[in-house]
Amino acid sequence: MSDEKMKFRVGLGVTGGIAAYKAIEVLRLLQKSDCEVRVAMTKHATEFISPLTFRALTENYVLVDDYEPDNPDPIAHINFSQEIDLFLVVPATANTLAKFANGIADDFLTSTYLASTAPVMVAPAMNTTMWDQPATQRNIANLREDGVYFVEPVSGELACKTVGTGKLEDVENIAAQALSLLTKKKTNSPEAIGKSQDLNGQKILITVGGTREAIDPVRFISNHSSGKMGFAIAEAAAKRGAEVTVVSGITTVEPPDGVKVVPGISAEEMHTSVMRELSGKTIFIGAAAVADYRPRSVADAKIKKEKKDSMSLDLEKTTDILAVVSENRHQGLTVVGFAAETNNVVDYARSKLEKKNLDMVVANDITKKGAGFNTDTNIATIIVRGNPKAIDLPIMKKRELADNILDEVLKLKTARKSA
Ligand code: PMT
Repeated sequence: MSDEKMKFRVGLGVTGGIAAYKAIEVLRLLQKSDCEVRVAMTKHATEFISPLTFRALTENYVLVDDYEPDNPDPIAHINFSQEIDLFLVVPATANTLAKFANGIADDFLTSTYLASTAPVMVAPAMNTTMWDQPATQRNIANLREDGVYFVEPVSGELACKTVGTGKLEDVENIAAQALSLLTKKKTNSPEAIGKSQDLNGQKILITVGGTREAIDPVRFISNHSSGKMGFAIAEAAAKRGAEVTVVSGITTVEPPDGVKVVPGISAEEMHTSVMRELSGKTIFIGAAAVADYRPRSVADAKIKKEKKDSMSLDLEKTTDILAVVSENRHQGLTVVGFAAETNNVVDYARSKLEKKNLDMVVANDITKKGAGFNTDTNIATIIVRGNPKAIDLPIMKKRELADNILDEVLKLKTARKSA
């Protein structure tokens, strides 16, 4: 192919799964779109399909093992990885994802991943149980954090005759996503070169952590919030160019750099701080776990036991900060709430969206392993006003979820602007 016609150079990695034969179709589609494709395979992939097939289709030596005597290039993994615009892995097995996530480079394909400066896109395919394994999901979350692009597997009948998530996405869609990424990369679109400064000009106010409601000078009512989720959003927003203010309750983690932090220890103090900081903000996110009730009166001195077998506290409702912000919103303010639920998660979250007239709700089932309070990961469903379809997200680092939430906020703002 002449250089004028050739648009992109793609390194196609093929790993050892039953879907390996579908990589041929992806290769053909990329070639039809004027891409020059070179292929690297794992040894197990060659059990499913012969390197000769790819060699015939690409007119290039297919790399499986650097040390093969007939390998024409003595430092193949370096040269191969430096001469591509995209490293696309179809299918990506759980084993290969695990190696990528942990920097293991024990064959040509995994060495190429480590040596490559090109963007990496993977299209996983595997049995549902393997996909759902916490280890696999952890590796996926880490790889996303490292900037790897995913073409998610779909649900369907798998080779093992079970039905579930793990089926390779349609080859047309894989090729389309690869081409779209290559095009964005070429035109330097912010989406492709990282999140960039896409929140430049946005002024974001976030409530973070748990509140403390005093009973007496010694005791208080509180909850398990660590502030990890709220600070993750603050960090992501600041990195993407937003001006970020956090009203912080009790937290166990350090606030990120570049963020203004204002205290709001009790629900009342948090409410006061929020109202003081709200002017001119373009986005409000209520990530704090605010007490719904507080003692009606706070004792001046330590309450004594006085041989009582029981005691009761008279509680009164606190101000619902999120509802007040939403009710009194100024023009251009997008209001996002969280919903920490233990059952009927999406239904309860939707009813919060309606009752508090929110633009978006991030629902998390705090009973799920790896979700909710004081974890580094979360499992969330994002519900956007006007969108009947909830966005179900898999387990991921709170920092990654933060970017997903901000992406949806930005989409909503852009859609409203152009409406
Ligand atoms: O801090 P982490 O350890 O990382 O934990 C994260 C988290 C579980 C706290 C977070 O992901 C979360 O779900 N935050 C909201 C917790 C909560 O209080 O949910 P809720 O369903 O009770 O409240 C709904 C919304 O109203 C929330 O946005 C809350 O901030 C807001 N609210 C509630 C009561 C109140 N008086 N004022 C409020 O603003």
